[in-house]
Parts: sequence; C-alpha cells; structure tokens
Amino acid sequence: MIVVTTPTGQIGSKVLAGLVKAGEIVRAIARDPGRVEAPGSVEVIEGTHADPSVVARALEGAEAAFWCVPPDETMSAPAREYYLRFCRPLAEALPGSSVRRLVLVSSGGRGGPRDSGPIGAALEVEELLESTGVHLRALRCGYFMENLLSQVEMLRDRGIFAHPMKGDIAVPVCATRDIGARAVEILGDRSWTGQTGVGVHGPTHLTLNQMADVMTRVLGRPIRYQELSEEDFRSVLLGFGASEVYTRELIDLFRAMAGGLHDAQPRTPDSTTPTTFDSWCAETLWPAIA
Ligand SMILES: NC(=O)c1ccc[n+]([C@@H]2O[C@H](COP(=O)([O-])OP(=O)(O)OC[C@H]3O[C@@H](n4cnc5c(N)ncnc54)[C@H](OP(=O)(O)O)[C@@H]3O)[C@@H](O)[C@H]2O)c1
Repeated sequence: MIVVTTPTGQIGSKVLAGLVKAGEIVRAIARDPGRVEAPGSVEVIEGTHADPSVVARALEGAEAAFWCVPPDETMSAPAREYYLRFCRPLAEALPGSSVRRLVLVSSGGRGGPRDSGPIGAALEVEELLESTGVHLRALRCGYFMENLLSQVEMLRDRGIFAHPMKGDIAVPVCATRDIGARAVEILGDRSWTGQTGVGVHGPTHLTLNQMADVMTRVLGRPIRYQELSEEDFRSVLLGFGASEVYTRELIDLFRAMAGGLHDAQPRTPDSTTPTTFDSWCAETLWPAIA
C-alpha cells in the first residue's frame, strides 16, 4: 500500500489517479476527504501531514509514500520552518514504520546557495529525510508551467505576465502531469534502493521571453513578458494577500534562479520529460483564459 499526500493538488491528484490506474492500493491523507477524486477503493485519512498522529496512522502497514509540501502564500513562518513542519513528523515516524521507499517533491539546486527561499527549504527537507535511512527519490523539478495559472487574469486582460527576473534567462520548465507520471513510475518500481535526486526538467529549458512567444502563437493574441523590480513584485503579491515572509522568500527564489541555481541539477535524457510548453498552453492555459 502506498500513501499519497496532497491528493487534491496539482501533482498529488495525478499521482493518486496514476497509482489507482496501475492497480496499486492507495491511502491518501486529505484535510477534506470529500474533495479527493478517487474510487471507493482509496482509503482516506482525514487531516494534514503536518500532524504526527495523522502521519502515524497513515504509515501503518504502508510500503511506500509520496510526500509533497503544500505551498501557502499566506504562510507566517520562514520557508525552512514551514517546509520542515510537513516533514518532521514523517522523519520521526519512518524508522519505526514499514515504509521503505519514499518519493519526495523537491527542487533543482542541491549544492547551490541556501538563501533560495522555498528551494533551499526543500533541499533541507531532503537532508532531513535522508538522515532516516529511507530509500529516497527526490524529484528535483524545474519551474512549473502551472505557475502561469496564477497570472490568468493579467494574461487575459492585459496580455502580460510578470516575474522579478530577466526575460532572457533559460530555466527548465516542466508540467505537473509529467512530475506525477514520474512519481507513479518510481513508486510502482519495487527494485530500486538508495537515495538520489531525479531531475524533472520538461523537454527544453526556456526563457520567460520564449514562453511569451509560445503563448502569443498558441493563444493567438500578443503576450509579453514584463520584468518587475523586486519592489513592484512585492507590492503586487502583498496586494493579492500574500504574506510578507512568503513574498520575501519568493524574491530570494527568483534571485537564486537568475543566478543559475538549476545548473546544479543538469539536464539528462532521463530528466527530460515529454509535455511541451506549446501543448500545455493549448490544453491547459488556453481553456483557462478563454
Ligand atoms: N511551482 C514551482 O515552480 C515548483 C518548482 C519546484 C518544486 N516545487 C514544489 O512543488 C510543491 C507544490 O506542488 P503542487 O503544485 O502539486 O502543490 P499544490 O497543488 O499547490 O498543493 C495543494 C494541495 O496541498 C493540500 N494542502 C494545502 N494546505 C495543506 C495543509 N495545511 N495540510 C495538508 N494539505 C494541504 C491541498 O489540499 P486541500 O484540498 O485540503 O486544499 C492540495 O491537495 C511545493 O513543495 C514546491 O516547493 C514547485
């Protein structure tokens, strides 16, 4: 039996569906079991994976687990503390549990600077979980295509999207469906051991300007990338209700990305995943904007 966290999330929902389709027995942890889209065969433990008692119940008799820290733009704690909150209960429960294999959602950048906001926090989580001795595959993902969904109104109404980063810096850009598929593949394979990172990089690196060009072509309307100053980015995020600390950490993340943080996990044939940005725009962004 395999435990799945964030079963209603972008990656977690695909992991849940993929494991069920593959005939695996699945137990999900969800704050609201009613929101979990799964056949009756999936057992749902109600609660959060930040709660040690929930984690202890969920791991009982499990052979493997999929772990993902849910982002929270209203978080009041620094990213490191926030991320560890969702992983310490697991780290404490693992040694006495039946779980032998763990797949963790992480980020590129291992070996790079630690002041990289949520990326540095994810890498600290990797180290914590490694210290338990569990067999671990950390999915070191690139920039999610789905990040653009938070800018749908700006794309629709003004034809722009914006980040505090130069438009000519290339980063790996991947779709969450490919991350989910990679997790399902690894969880269904009982033969691997040890601890290592697995890059999930999409088909190519892209700059934000190149992403604007693809969107222009696929959406059939002019789309422009706008580089924001950190101060303007901060005001925009705060205006949307993000917390001060989240905003600061995200600025650190973009600084680290601009500084080449993803170079620490170079692209390989294995880290190159199939969903193109063109096809993602046609299948996901276009309906969201239309
Ligand atoms: N965005 C990027 O470019 C990027 C790049 C590399 C790595 N990452 C990593 O990817 C991860 C995010 O993955 P994702 O996009 O799939 O996440 P997501 O869809 O944003 O996560 C939402 C899920 O988390 C659950 N959730 C929210 N708050 C919770 C809480 N307090 N306790 C328990 N569950 C909670 C939600 O459940 P409800 O149904 O209850 O709301 C939902 O299932 C992060 O760890 C991030 O560091 C992101």
